[in-house]
Amino acid sequence: MAFTISSGSKVYGGLVNEGLLNTNCIGCHQGANVSGSVPFVFDASAPNYGLTGTEAGTTTLAGGNFHWVGMGAERTGHNVAGITPLDSVHGVTPPGGAAMGGQITCGGILGCHGSSSAVTPTQAIMGGHHGKDMTAWQDGTSVAKSYRFLNGVQGGEDPNFEFRPTQNQHNKYYGVDRSSEANLAAGSISSHCARCHGDFHNGGGKMAAGSFGAGVWLRHPIDFDMSRSVSSTEYATYNSGTGTANPYSVISPVATASTTPVVNTSVYAASDDAIVMCLSCHRAHGSPYDAIMRWDYKKWPQADGYNGCAVCHTSKN
Ligand code: HEC
Ligand code: HEC
Ligand code: HEC
Ligand code: HEC
Repeated sequence: MAFTISSGSKVYGGLVNEGLLNTNCIGCHQGANVSGSVPFVFDASAPNYGLTGTEAGTTTLAGGNFHWVGMGAERTGHNVAGITPLDSVHGVTPPGGAAMGGQITCGGILGCHGSSSAVTPTQAIMGGHHGKDMTAWQDGTSVAKSYRFLNGVQGGEDPNFEFRPTQNQHNKYYGVDRSSEANLAAGSISSHCARCHGDFHNGGGKMAAGSFGAGVWLRHPIDFDMSRSVSSTEYATYNSGTGTANPYSVISPVATASTTPVVNTSVYAASDDAIVMCLSCHRAHGSPYDAIMRWDYKKWPQADGYNGCAVCHTSKN
């Protein structure tokens, strides 16, 4: 909010921040990650992403980083107000969804974090920072109790925000094993993306021709458990496992229907713990790659490419 104050002959002007804060979301969340204790999501200097954002020495977190989109590579991130100009191709219209009332913001009615009805990002996340208990299962019943303040989304939170994640230290994403594309999969991490990119997740004739899971896919399956796939032997060897308690992959992760805070170190260890989600392939904020991909599958098999598809599609590599 802009203001001017006059005192005698002097005129002062500037920006007032809501919530008595001396900065906005980006002010606090800009910097270089050294441990993951405070989540920095925008770095003016190039972070170390490695090939997949997970290797030793990497300095990005679960959502990736807005650095590359901030440098003008529009397709590598969400073009968030305050970090980048409006996306010149998509403008205010998310692919697979309806035009929004303005440029995407961190939170609120035009953004991702906090209440989706609040007008500004700060209003949207009110009560979030001070009410957070990262050790608990986030059941989505309030902003503070929602996974990363994504209102209504469930999940388990890695206290280090996936700074150099491992099989035993990572976020626990919530998913729903659907049998119909009409199911909105309330509370899943992918249902959050679907708020803006609906056609990529749900709606009649959007995901599958014929029955969901038994017909032919029109779009990549999401909120669908891999154990139900027609060619299940292919996915049984997910991340070089055998089909029983395969190791969880931080490179191409899956969601689970489990709602305890205990981290899911294995896949195919319980029912519905191998659910494909938007974040199996994408980062939420930004990455060095087009379409905010977790890895550069288009460049594979070059040395700077990576075939993350093959973590699941084990017989197509
Ligand atoms: C005054 C500094 C400050 C401001 C302003 C701020 N944050 Fe934060 N935020 C933090 C810190 C520090 C943490 C680390 C977690 C903690 O200890 O609370 C955090 C944590 C978070 C998290 C992770 C929560 C979780 O689930 O663990 C999210 C998401 C977040 N902030 C989003 C936002 C958004 C969106 C805005 C703007 C509306 C914002 N923050 C403004 C300092 C700030
Ligand atoms: C509040 C609405 C909103 C939500 C929620 C949202 N997006 Fe987007 N997304 C947009 C808009 C608007 C664009 C087009 C402009 C841009 O790229 O910034 C976009 C663009 C994209 C792109 C294409 C980037 C490019 O330029 O090629 C991808 C990929 C994407 N989103 C993935 C996701 C994923 C994954 C999630 C969930 C983690 C998500 N989005 C959640 C609004 C949203
Ligand atoms: C199996 C991997 C995979 C999954 C899962 C996935 N995507 Fe994508 N997505 C892709 C690929 C590949 C592209 C195209 C990349 C390119 O153009 O380089 C893409 C492109 C996009 C785009 C950009 C479209 C455009 O017109 O530019 C959006 C938006 C998007 N995905 C959103 C989502 C959302 C939302 C979900 C979950 C409901 C999702 N994706 C799940 C692989 C995936
Ligand atoms: C998290 C695991 C996972 C990842 C990562 C993944 N897929 Fe898939 N994919 C699946 C599952 C499960 C199916 C559904 C198979 C079925 O219904 O039999 C599927 C189906 C498909 C299909 C439909 C044809 C078929 O084989 O059934 C294509 C094409 C496809 N994926 C391409 C890709 C590409 C390209 C990538 C990488 C950009 C990718 N997938 C990454 C799990 C994954």
